[in-house]
Formats: sequence, structure tokens, C-alpha cells
Amino acid sequence: NQVCDAWNGYDEAQCGIQASSSSKILIKGGTVVNAHHQEIADVYVEDGIIVAVKPNIKVGDDVTVLDATGKYVMPGGIDPHTHLSMEFMGTETIDDFFSGQAAALAGGTTMHIDFVIPVNGSLSAGFKAYERKAENSCMDYGFHMAITKWDEVVAEEMEIMVKEKGINSFKFFMAYKGSLMINDELLLEGFKRCKSFGALAMVHAENGDAVFEGQKRMIELGITGPEGHALSRPPMLEGEATSRAIRLASFVNVPLYVVHVMSIDAMEEIAKARKSGQRVIGEPVVSGLILDDSGLWAADFVTAAKYVMSPPIRASGHNKALQAALSSGVLQLVGTDHCPFTSTQKSLGIDDFRKIPNGVNGIEERMHLVWHTMVESGKILPTDYVRLTSTECARIFNIYPRKGAILAGSDADIIILNPNSSFEITARSHHSRLDTNVFEGMKGKGKVEVTIAGGRIVWENDQLKVVPGSGKYIEMPPFSYLFDGIEKADAKYLSSLHAPVCDAWNGYDEAQCG
Ligand code: URP
Ligand code: ZN
Ligand code: ZN
Repeated sequence: NQVCDAWNGYDEAQCGIQASSSSKILIKGGTVVNAHHQEIADVYVEDGIIVAVKPNIKVGDDVTVLDATGKYVMPGGIDPHTHLSMEFMGTETIDDFFSGQAAALAGGTTMHIDFVIPVNGSLSAGFKAYERKAENSCMDYGFHMAITKWDEVVAEEMEIMVKEKGINSFKFFMAYKGSLMINDELLLEGFKRCKSFGALAMVHAENGDAVFEGQKRMIELGITGPEGHALSRPPMLEGEATSRAIRLASFVNVPLYVVHVMSIDAMEEIAKARKSGQRVIGEPVVSGLILDDSGLWAADFVTAAKYVMSPPIRASGHNKALQAALSSGVLQLVGTDHCPFTSTQKSLGIDDFRKIPNGVNGIEERMHLVWHTMVESGKILPTDYVRLTSTECARIFNIYPRKGAILAGSDADIIILNPNSSFEITARSHHSRLDTNVFEGMKGKGKVEVTIAGGRIVWENDQLKVVPGSGKYIEMPPFSYLFDGIEKADAKYLSSLHAPVCDAWNGYDEAQCG
């Protein structure tokens, strides 16, 4: 059934009718898992919306019935971090919104949030470009916006993005010197702007100046292969930038979201800040949770180059620590940073690791790998799994409970996972257009057998039934829960500046201090 998958292009005559044959679905007898609770119940779906969640729902014979006995019925995954059709490092990621989303659906993810890259610094031009890129979408998606330069126009456009375009988060790059990187002055300006609109500030936290220096050092030593990528940007540079971003966010009193937390160094900065009460969210990605850096030393270039991403995949030990941080609540949700470049594209850097396009896959693999690594191993419960892969993302980006929940009234984005079935990951069988896979050969327990997106069965019996154009743009309103109480802390700070002078340093004022 080749013609119904994303790679080969979708053929309506052969695939379309089955794809949307029923708008009424009953999922019977499964264990329905939400972030707060799980129970055995039926789930009834009509016209893309969950209508009822309770035991023993009776329906007529115009309803498609799926038996989920012994299986988990959970909210579809939401991937907070992807780069589909992104122009980057002289090339463009190989998955577009259709192929990347089809891959996502085959892996149990039903929504993603992609990063709009401005065009010559213009946010509105970038937004228009991404609207076009997303026209063929077959699942729901939202946008973050990257900020790559700063001037009055950008500051104005941020407001338009939040108030008119449904964007509630902005990513600032502390790395990629000479292209995307901004300095601390602009980071502060950006944080202040984010705060005024209730938008979430996100950072790519690596010290870009030091990375530049580290790269020069490697080249001078004659290290030009993919291992030079990891050696040139060690964990301390991620730790430094994470710490700096956290302190600047605290200075402005604005919530902060650290994307792709790859090292113990960065994670510990987040842990420390959260312990002190600061609103900091840490997002590890599946490559960083599962892999280690050994692949970067592979003898052949193609194998080694496929692991190149930034911040780098770290030495063994960081992955286990990130898993522990997830299970203990230090980190809050899992992304992928799906940013796929083929072997040919990676070969741009065959003589110089600095030219290898940065990015790895994960959009199709995340749900399986997190289940296997975290739930199957006993580190977390199914309820935690739902929180880390779906619900918390929906809360942070202010679209809960429309997304991220199996509740009456929520969008019908649902997966059925069989804990006794197994998965295997290979480039040969995956649905991304990528010719490689950083998780090649990995096997595990727990398989997504059915994916329902927007009330349609899009993945069943290992077959994709996806319709280009069926995905919707999800507008994300500002002022998520992370902003609650921010103004009280501001008021407290301001009043502390005008406190009566009763201490020895400032001199004791008899009238005021008694
Ligand atoms: O290597 C990566 N992470 N590529 C995607 C761009 C980014 O920094 O997220
Ligand atoms: Zn990044
Ligand atoms: Zn990214």
C-alpha cells in the first residue's frame, strides 16, 4: 500500500475514502490515561471532538468500534520542538510539513510546534512563509517564533505575532555566532518584550562566542571530523549559557523555557533555579535522553555525521541523568528537535565539521522511546508519560484541555498503545524522508497501534491514511499559567526599593523606625 504514505505522495482515489470513512468512533474497554488519573472506560468521538469518556457507552452501527481491551488509550503526543522545511546551514530539512507530520502520526504524535524562522529578520515575512510551508499539513500544528536580530520593527512585530497570529513563544539563540546568535543586551530586550505580552521566552543555551573559539581550536589541532563538533562545544558552555539565561530571566522576572537540555551542567542550573522558586521549564529531547556521543567517533563520515546536532549529544551518563531529572520533575516535558538532514546534506561538512548541517530525527520515535525507556523500565507511570509527552506541553503553551487530555470536549487526538506489542526502528521502515536514523536498530516494548488525529483514524495496522490539508493551525493564547502571580512578585520587588531606612548601613531614621 505504498501510495498512502507520505514518502510516495498521497493518492486520494486509493487512500482517501478509507481515510475519512467514519466521523464517529468508539474506543472500547481500554485503560484511559490522563496526566491526573487513569481508569478503564470507553471513549466516544464524533466530528473530531471527544464527546464522552465513561464505561459501557452504547452506540449504533454507523460507528467505527475499536477494541482497546488490555491497551492504553492516551492523548496523542505533542512535540514542542520541530524544524520542518527549515532553511538552515545552506540547505533545508528533508521533511516538509506533510512527510514530517505523517511520520509523527505513525509514531503516535498528533500535534507539533515548529519554529518560524524570520526572513531577513522580518517576523511577518517569516510567518507568511511558514503559513505556506504548512499548507499540506495532515495534523494540527502551532508555531513558535525565532528572534534572530533586534530593532524597533522586530519589537513591534512581536506584539502583532502574539495579538493577531496565535504565537505565544519566542526562541532566542545564544549560539550560532554570525547567523542566529544574539547578545545579552538583545536577550534582555527580548525578555522584557515577552513579559509585556505574556509570551514565553525560550533559549538555545550555549555560549556562542566560546563555541566559536572551541571550533577554531579543533581546526588548528587538525580535528575536522564530526567528533570535532562535540569537542568544540563541551557541556560547560551549555551550563554557562543556561545559567546566564536563567539569571537574566530572574532579573527581568519572566518565565523561561530552556530548549534541548542536553547535559547535566544545564540540567543542574535548571534544578537550582526551580528549587529557589524560579519559573524555569527544561525540555530534554529524545536523542539526548537515549543516545550518547560514541556515534560521533564512528569511522565512516556518514554514520558519524548523522549524530551532529547542537547542543551536542553528550558522553554516556548525561542521558541517564536527564532521564532521572524527568522522572523527578526537574525537567517537565520531552521534545525531539526533529531537524532531519540526509547523508548527502550532511556531506556538506565532509572536510569540516563546522559545515555539517546540525540536526537529528525523532518526531516518529519519541513516543515509543520514551515509553520503553521510562515506563517499561518502571521509572515513571503511564500518567507521568502522558504529562511528559502531551499534557504539560499543552499547559505551557496554553492550549489545555483542548489538547493534551482525554476529556469530553477535547480534540479527538488519541493513541492506542499496546504494552505487550513491540517496535523496531529502522531507516528502511520509518516514515520520514530521511535516509538514516539515529535510533537505527533500537527495539522495545510498547507499540502505538492506532493514532486518531482530529477524529480520524490515521494510523492502523501499520498503515498511514493521511490527508494533506487536513491539519489545522492551532492558535496559542498568551499568559499561560507560568505568568500567574508574576505581577505580585514585581510589586513586592518595587515596594522593597522604597522600604523605610531602619538599618545601620543607611542610617537609622527615628520617625520611621521607632
Ligand atoms: O542541531 C540542532 N538543534 N538543529 C536545529 C536548530 C536548533 O538549534 O534547534
Ligand atoms: Zn536550538
Ligand atoms: Zn531546534
